[in-house]
Amino acid sequence: MCGIVGYIGKRDAYSIVIKGLKRLEYRGYDSAGIMLHDGKELKVSKTKGKVTDLEEVSQKDNNFFGSIGMGHTRWATHGVPNDVNSHPHLSNSGNLAIIHNGIIENYEPLKKELIKRGYVFHSDTDTEVLINLIEDVQKKENIKLGKAVQIALNQVVGAYAIAVFDKNKPDEIIVARLGSPLAIGIGDGEFFVASDASPFIEYTSNAIYLEDEEMAIVRLHKPIKVRKIKDDSLVDPYVQELKMNLEQIEKGGYDHFMMKEIYEQPNVIKDTYRGRLLANKGIIQMAGVEDNLEKFLNAERIIIVACGTSWHAGLVAEYIFEEFARIPVEVEYASEFRYRNPIINKKDVVVAISQSGETADTLAAIKLAKENGAFVFGVCNVVGSSISRETDAGAYTHAGPEIGVASTKAFTTQITVLTLIALRLAKAKGTMSNSDFHRYLLELEMIPEKVEEALETNEIAKKIANIYKDSPNCLYLGRGYNFPVALEGALKLKEISYIHAEGYPAAEMKHGPIALIDESMPVVVIAPKMGHYDKVVSNIQEIKSRSGKIIAVVTKGDTQVRDLADHVIEIPETSDALSPLLTTIPLQLLSYHIAVMRGCNVDQPRNLAKSVTVE
Ligand code: AGP
Ligand code: GLU
Repeated sequence: MCGIVGYIGKRDAYSIVIKGLKRLEYRGYDSAGIMLHDGKELKVSKTKGKVTDLEEVSQKDNNFFGSIGMGHTRWATHGVPNDVNSHPHLSNSGNLAIIHNGIIENYEPLKKELIKRGYVFHSDTDTEVLINLIEDVQKKENIKLGKAVQIALNQVVGAYAIAVFDKNKPDEIIVARLGSPLAIGIGDGEFFVASDASPFIEYTSNAIYLEDEEMAIVRLHKPIKVRKIKDDSLVDPYVQELKMNLEQIEKGGYDHFMMKEIYEQPNVIKDTYRGRLLANKGIIQMAGVEDNLEKFLNAERIIIVACGTSWHAGLVAEYIFEEFARIPVEVEYASEFRYRNPIINKKDVVVAISQSGETADTLAAIKLAKENGAFVFGVCNVVGSSISRETDAGAYTHAGPEIGVASTKAFTTQITVLTLIALRLAKAKGTMSNSDFHRYLLELEMIPEKVEEALETNEIAKKIANIYKDSPNCLYLGRGYNFPVALEGALKLKEISYIHAEGYPAAEMKHGPIALIDESMPVVVIAPKMGHYDKVVSNIQEIKSRSGKIIAVVTKGDTQVRDLADHVIEIPETSDALSPLLTTIPLQLLSYHIAVMRGCNVDQPRNLAKSVTVE
């Protein structure tokens, strides 16, 4: 995701846009840019780096002013962070400018067609394709910008919040949204557009939040016209009076970034498979995998290197890759792998997982693997990060910036990417039947709505948190795909509430840890119907017989565990392999509430950093 800001009115647009971008930098900070119109000319200044870098660059131009302007702080998805790929992007004529938050899935075929029509492209972004598509429509149909945007967007597949400006019509900004947020601030003789209200809340509390598939013509001295993108029909806009303060707006109304990011998971999982999972066509398309398919298919083994939560995602991937694609997988702590003089063969494929793309141990493990001739594939969340540049190929999670130190949406989007890869390899190797392959595609496509449903366990998680918030210890148990989720749940609790917690394979209890069980020990057991259920029920009985307090995560409608456990949290049913995407949700919520109740700094826990760039 990224931040977009626009202003049209009587004030100095530069200061409003720049200040607004600084408020939106939490949404992305790869690069920043601003466009101004001074009544005659359209000017653009943009640069890799933060908004302060943009200020430095733009202030070199003494003639950079205007009362209409747009700005963008980028979180790259297509095209590394650099000056050229920064927004705003101009159309070939130089008349049109766009800022965009989102992903244009079908930008490649659109780009090919526009190139055939003589358009040239300077950047690697999907956004530059959109602004030239709009120009192409405007020219062909000889129509106004608003209509051209509406027609062009009906040719687009993807997600967007856009603001578009035509220097030949400098009294309006056209905005539209599908899948990414867009707010319009309504002032006295002035208008603001932005990804959220933080850039304009100090000027006006009257706002329209566009709904999906809506667009608006924001024209000076005219009422806002909101229309349906599909058929251009008029919509009666709802103007609301905002009551949130600045900090609440940046956190999306949540108390902490971590909670906001927990609730972003349905959308960011969808963004992560967008354009890659084409269930209706029965295909998975991922350029980084396609271009290196032979390496994966000929791999004697896959070695996964990662740290922390990313390592847990790697453990889930081990089960998925081995079951789906029958490729041997080893999962290594990057910090151990880099120092233990591991055996690495040229036919090994190394998969490096990292949210930040800057974790020193993971980066070092990658370099060691490459020195030994292995092909290294990266799964990162930050485009242009060190790890994404060091690996031979990769696939990004489109989780957007993860501000909370405790990884949540990174974990689920990493699993999403790894599942897509495993399914693609299974299809290519013929290790999965066509019917199973299609079934998984459809099930994966339904995961975002099932995560929405899993998020409804928030109140139950909060109640349970209140009971156990003072426990000195906690155990997490899971089997199969949910053993890594048990580890992840324990890590979440440890790192934000400072309660000692351990994750174990459920069957391991009898090999020692069961000695810990007594009436003061809460035990979180992950017991979905589709995963070794009967065995896990036996483990629950073992714990119960020793008076352990059982918090069970079960499939909706479960009755057997309900009779045994002290607390039950129900989640929707899904396949065993995809269950980590759902079972992790109540564990995230439980650890969040316990940490809040203990007065811990949830977003910046003690002793921790978001990115561990040191050894
Ligand atoms: C997870 O909640 C932690 N913040 C930490 O374990 C993190 O997953 C680990 O440091 C790896 O970071 P990376 O994914 O950015 O490489
Ligand atoms: N897909 C666009 C790009 O990569 C916008 C990304 C964003 O939402 O920040 O430039």
